Amino acid sequence: MTREPWRERYLVFGAPAFGPEERAAMLACLDSGWVGSGPRVAELEERFRTYVGAPAAVAVSSCTAALHLALLALDLAPGAEVVTSPMTFAATANAVIHAGLVPVFADCDPDTGCLDPAAIERAITPRTRAVIPVHFAGRPCDMAAIERIASARGLHVVEDCAHAIEATIGDRHCGTFGELGCFSFYVTKNMTTIEGGMLVARSPETAARLKRLALHGLSADAWSRYGDEGFVHYQVEQPGFKYNLTDLAASIGLVQLGKLEARWERRRALWDFYLRELSDLPLRLPPPVPAGVRHALHLFTCRIDPARTALSRDEVIAALHALRIGTGVHYTALHLHPWYRDRFGFRPGDFPAAEAIGAQIFSIPLSAAVGDADAADVVRALREVLG
Ligand SMILES: Cc1ncc(COP(=O)(O)O)c(C=O)c1O
Repeated sequence: MTREPWRERYLVFGAPAFGPEERAAMLACLDSGWVGSGPRVAELEERFRTYVGAPAAVAVSSCTAALHLALLALDLAPGAEVVTSPMTFAATANAVIHAGLVPVFADCDPDTGCLDPAAIERAITPRTRAVIPVHFAGRPCDMAAIERIASARGLHVVEDCAHAIEATIGDRHCGTFGELGCFSFYVTKNMTTIEGGMLVARSPETAARLKRLALHGLSADAWSRYGDEGFVHYQVEQPGFKYNLTDLAASIGLVQLGKLEARWERRRALWDFYLRELSDLPLRLPPPVPAGVRHALHLFTCRIDPARTALSRDEVIAALHALRIGTGVHYTALHLHPWYRDRFGFRPGDFPAAEAIGAQIFSIPLSAAVGDADAADVVRALREVLG
């Protein structure tokens, strides 16, 4: 059916929101004469470390880089197996491949999309060395169960916290349950440096090693080499990577970190509005979290309920697009993507929960750029398409 759009402006999914504070911070950084990795990166590391309550933090150029470095920090033998969820972005499993390891998928929980502890148990082989829980959409995985399995089986835990910046279980932040936690500051995330990420570590020694590895394996970073203390010679201690964050990016991140909690509250209001206004449509909405658990509210996911509508997910997102409402798909199950399917011989049916979610799910706009009128338009559009 052709639909006449009534919205003037396209509502872009995941659009970030910047104010005069970010602009001022960027200009101050440009004017400071130091835009590469330096004092603002150090300040962001310290403030983020304090925010999540981790012993150490290393700012990097993306969460993908953080995951790659985290896996290298485990010093696993090539070919060791790492269990993770197929309900994730490609970066999670790609990082395992780039670290010379083998990703082994374990299905997610059919309701929450988070890695299912029972499925982890079934995926473990004598070669399994680590597990990467993905806190899907910002909802914490069952870390008590995952920690139990990991300690019983001697497995390392690296958390993919790309969606989970504000997420907590009890008084502990996601990212501090595993040995290492990996956060994303990509444009669509709850806070952004445009591209960027953060690694948090239990051990300051590991963090120091990963900081070196993030900058070519050099013993001294650029700030200490060229800063106002005079030139410092460096040694190459290991062939590292170019994964450092810039001060220009960190200048935006520092402002965004200051807005993080207020923006979580704002998304909480939008979240409750969506839950209330969409409850009678043929959709499965995000399930509530248990008491004592804080959801980071990164993605408001809707799942088409095939028992209550004949429309497919793709028909719904096409109709929303025609009404100038942007959506996201998080995610088509990763094992069904061509490289993973062909390399590991996966087939439809291998991970039924992830496949069902992948076929039915779409995310509606929830970012800091969504105003009340925008959210009302999302509801109106969904009611028009599905009501
Ligand atoms: C679950 C998950 N893991 C990892 C990443 C990678 O993050 P980045 O884009 O910062 O590399 C993303 C990015 O969207 C993600 O959603």
